[in-house]
Order: sequence, then structure tokens, then C-alpha cells
Amino acid sequence: MKVLVTGGAGYIGSITVERLIAHGASVVVFDNLYQGHEAAVHPDATFVCGDLADRAAIDDTLARHRPDGIMHFASYTLVGESWEKPFMYLRDNIVNGLNLLESAVEHGVRRFILSSTANLFDDPESVPIHETERIVPGSPYGESKNIMERYLYWLDRVYGFRYACLRYFNACGATEQRGEHHDPETHLIPLVLQVALGQRDKITIFGDDYNTPDGTCVRDYIHVHDLAEAHILALGAVDGGSRKYNLGNGRGFSVQEVIDTARQVTGHPIPSVIGPRRPGDPDILIAGSDAIVRDLGWRRQYPDLRQIVEMAWKWHQAHPNGYPY
Ligand code: UFG
Repeated sequence: MKVLVTGGAGYIGSITVERLIAHGASVVVFDNLYQGHEAAVHPDATFVCGDLADRAAIDDTLARHRPDGIMHFASYTLVGESWEKPFMYLRDNIVNGLNLLESAVEHGVRRFILSSTANLFDDPESVPIHETERIVPGSPYGESKNIMERYLYWLDRVYGFRYACLRYFNACGATEQRGEHHDPETHLIPLVLQVALGQRDKITIFGDDYNTPDGTCVRDYIHVHDLAEAHILALGAVDGGSRKYNLGNGRGFSVQEVIDTARQVTGHPIPSVIGPRRPGDPDILIAGSDAIVRDLGWRRQYPDLRQIVEMAWKWHQAHPNGYPY
């Protein structure tokens, strides 16, 4: 199978490419290197440096490579940033995504996997959060993914375009070769590990007055390798019908627990201070992932937080400055 992976030079995309190639797929990566790194692209993948705003570049790539399916990771992904730059999220994520969808339909591609998000569930009525939960996007970013999900719904009805929307909770961890490197970094685990590496003085905990056992936010940290495997299973299944899955560990860990785990793993004291709440952070987000386990036999290989942090730590120690530019 040949797969086009947009955002395949980014964190989750590059590790999914690594797993696709391990499963014997042929991969074309399409990435503008805004947050991605050419060094993260698997050497056996074909790399096209292109932007989804450029419809002709997408058409050319699909015509030239004729993929059997598309995995679409490329987008802006930061909840907080989307409050500051709503047009960047509500315009670019959506217009660029629509360029890709329209080109895919015109080139006869009928299998599509969308990177979606737990940020669809800002005000969950029940925890863990299952696919039946009502959708309340928590930010312009979450809304941009919701709109992409709605486009897919209509393209399936109109054209028989088969898709899976995978709503990730908090992606984390690393493989031997690939890990998390954003600039600027905003995610909890890499920031904590940067403190352990001596690159930052301390980690600021964004609020300790949440309605959780220790007062810090609870999130569902899911290993990026396990997310990648879910994409591959979903791509193999979409011919049987479009679907949506919530993807997480099924267990929540507080910010304080993540920091304590990183202290154990690294042996570094990792100083922390309590800061104000970050706008838009709900108390608890935990995924109910029973549906993908039941339908596709998805298994989490690395559900243990300590092992996730150990693998991330190994990558950060080997690449203290991330990928080369
Ligand atoms: N946090 C801190 N201090 C920091 C950074 C983060 O206390 O310096 C806290 C946050 O407040 C939050 C938790 O750590 O409670 C996790 O925050 P991240 O920034 O690592 O991740 P987010 O939960 O904000 O967002 C991630 C992805 C989004 C996705 C979301 C889904 O970046 O794309 O998970 O849950 F939508």
C-alpha cells in the first residue's frame, strides 16, 4: 500500500511514517517544515517539501504518486495559540485541509485518516470520554478539527469517501530514532525533560486549584508509537466504513504525577513552581478507547507512564538540541 502522509516530518507524523515503513508500506511525506524537520523524515520515504495552501503542489503530488490512502497530520495544533491567533487556525487548518480533500476526491483517493483531537470535548458529561460524548470544541483549534470531521461526513455521503477521525488525547513518548521537538516547546513532558537536561531552571505548574485529587490537571498521556499503530489499523479498516475513535491510555495522570515520574526517571530534582491557570484547560481529560480495541484489536504497547517518560528521556538525552535545522 502507498500512503501519503501530510505532516510526516512532524512529531506524530514522522513516527507514524516509521511504523508504516516497518509494516511494509510505501510512504510519501508532504510537509512544509513549519514545525517538522527534514531529519525526522524516514530515509525510505519520498519527501515532498510542499504547503497545503498550494493546491497545485497537492495535485501534482497526488497525480505523480497515486497513493492508496492519505494520513493527514499537517496542521497547527496548539490549543493556547489558537486563542491568540484564531484566524490562523480557523482559516489555515480548514482551507488547507479542504484543498487536500478536494484534490483527494479529484484524484480518486478514497481512504483518509484525520488527526483529530480531545479538544472536541471541552465540557464532557462523563469520564472517560467515549465517542458518544457531545462535541463542544474547546478552542478555535478544536473547532478547526470539528469542521474537518464535518467535511469528511459529507464527503462520505456524497462520494463514498471513507475516513477515520482519530481524536488523540496527549501524545507523548519517543522511539529510538524519533521524538518530540517543537520550537517553541509548550508540552509538559518535553519541558520537564528540558529542566532535567539543564536547559531550563524549573517547570511552572499551570494551576493547583483544579477539581482533581492533587489540584493539578489530569490528562491521558498516550505513547506516540501506540497512536501510530492505531492509524495503520484504521487505514486498513476504512473500506469497511467510516469511523471515529477516541485514542488514549484510558488512565489519567496529573501534572504533579508526570513531574514526579520524571524526577524518578531522570534522577534530577526538577524544581517546580505553581503559576496561574492556563486559559482553556479543563480539569480532567481521559479517553474511553474501548471502541477501537473492540473493532480493530488495537493494543497499547506502552501504557505505563514511567516507560513513556523513560523512552522520551532516552531520546532527549541522545538529541539534547532536538533535530538539526
Ligand atoms: N502544563 C503545565 N506547565 C507547562 C506545560 C503544560 O502545567 O509548562 C500542563 C497543562 O496545563 C496541561 C498539561 O500540562 O494540564 C498538558 O499540557 P500540554 O501543553 O502538554 O498539552 P495540552 O493538553 O494542552 O494539549 C495536547 C495537544 C493538543 C491536544 C490536547 C488534547 O497539544 O493538540 O493535548 O488533550 F488537543
